[in-house]
Amino acid sequence: MKTGLGVAVWVTVTAVAAAVLPDDYNTLTVREKQALQWNQVLATRYNLTDLPTAFPQPTDNVTHLFVPEYLAQSFLHTGDEMPGTRRRILICPFGVVCKVQFRTFKNSTSPFTGLFNTGGIGLIRLSLEAVFGPPLGKIFSPSAVMKIYVHGQISRNFQHIKDIAGQGANHNYFLNNMSNIMEKGPMDPPAVGGAFTRTIAILAGDELSRPANAYTLGLYEQASVNADGTNVTGPIVAPWEQRLVPHAGLSTATDSTRDFRLDLIELLKEGTVLYDVYAKRSPDAAEYQLIGEIVLESECVPSQYGDQIIFFRQSAQQWRP
Ligand SMILES: *[C@@H]1O[C@H](CO)[C@@H](O)[C@H](O)[C@H]1NC(C)=O
Ligand SMILES: *[C@@H]1O[C@H](CO)[C@@H](O)[C@H](O)[C@H]1NC(C)=O
Ligand SMILES: *[C@@H]1O[C@H](CO)[C@@H](O)[C@H](O)[C@H]1NC(C)=O
Ligand SMILES: *[C@@H]1O[C@H](CO)[C@@H](O)[C@H](O)[C@H]1NC(C)=O
Ligand SMILES: *[C@@H]1O[C@H](CO)[C@@H](O)[C@H](O)[C@H]1NC(C)=O
Repeated sequence: MKTGLGVAVWVTVTAVAAAVLPDDYNTLTVREKQALQWNQVLATRYNLTDLPTAFPQPTDNVTHLFVPEYLAQSFLHTGDEMPGTRRRILICPFGVVCKVQFRTFKNSTSPFTGLFNTGGIGLIRLSLEAVFGPPLGKIFSPSAVMKIYVHGQISRNFQHIKDIAGQGANHNYFLNNMSNIMEKGPMDPPAVGGAFTRTIAILAGDELSRPANAYTLGLYEQASVNADGTNVTGPIVAPWEQRLVPHAGLSTATDSTRDFRLDLIELLKEGTVLYDVYAKRSPDAAEYQLIGEIVLESECVPSQYGDQIIFFRQSAQQWRP
């Protein structure tokens, strides 16, 4: 344990979230990294009677959603906090953050390597897409992004959503499976998809160094490293798709009229099994295999740090056979 760590954790007790991670952050252990970010979430937690809902704020420049050079940072920036003065997860502005363990099943015959084999600890952010959805509209589209820390290396993130269109008036947050491959819909906003396609096009490197398309994020980078910080030796075996299946019995009220964050906070407790994790090796593989589960290691907390400072990089490398 670094002696400076305790100081770094406790200096920021004001309500204003700020980027605080120390210079040697990447070299820390997974538990140290998780504690640093979780303490920021707790230090900037919102009063539940006063949750922010207005989006965009004057400081949110939604024009950025259509600027490839801006969007490209979501692939290029490797930190766990927003780059520079950036202060908003524009596509999904509000959510809750919870500590998690990605527990992989050692009884499984899964061929997958890296984090799909070792599992790990991290944070999950549960939110709603806001391109059309609340608070901007009536469409309810859950998304979950999970950060797994890697000892001495940058963390790896896993983005999951069903689709942009959402589930209409059904407010059960756990109605649908979610995946790293987003389903296409006839109502998908072409401007947003087009911006993402142009963003992929300006990423450096060969074809394998960028996502296959605007609907598909690769899992190769997550399969290439173990949670203890060692690189996978030998072939890297990544799933084509990772599917989060809401754990049996988990649901929020379909007809809830409350803010989804309040429903989640009430339901989700330390120890809750959130999702069963299934994976499929290739696009045409017949079967999904159960490879693990995502378990909460804490309560879920809405916070300024979790909405404005924490950063979840999207992996650029695409899947390969
Ligand atoms: C939360 O907000 C309510 C209503 O404004 C207020 O009475 C309460 O003191 C606040 N609690 C905290 C912890 O700030
Ligand atoms: C919003 O972002 C665009 C693109 O980066 C920029 O041209 C514009 O000046 C920004 N507007 C404000 C109000 O910051
Ligand atoms: C593997 O272990 C987990 C956790 O004990 C269990 O839920 C799952 O059903 C097991 N899978 C198989 C194929 O035995
Ligand atoms: C969710 O995924 C599981 C596992 O692949 C599958 O059994 C189930 O049918 C899926 N549910 C829906 C609604 O697609
Ligand atoms: C692990 O792989 C990365 C590239 O993915 C490389 O930069 C790094 O040097 C490797 N680490 C070791 C210890 O080989």
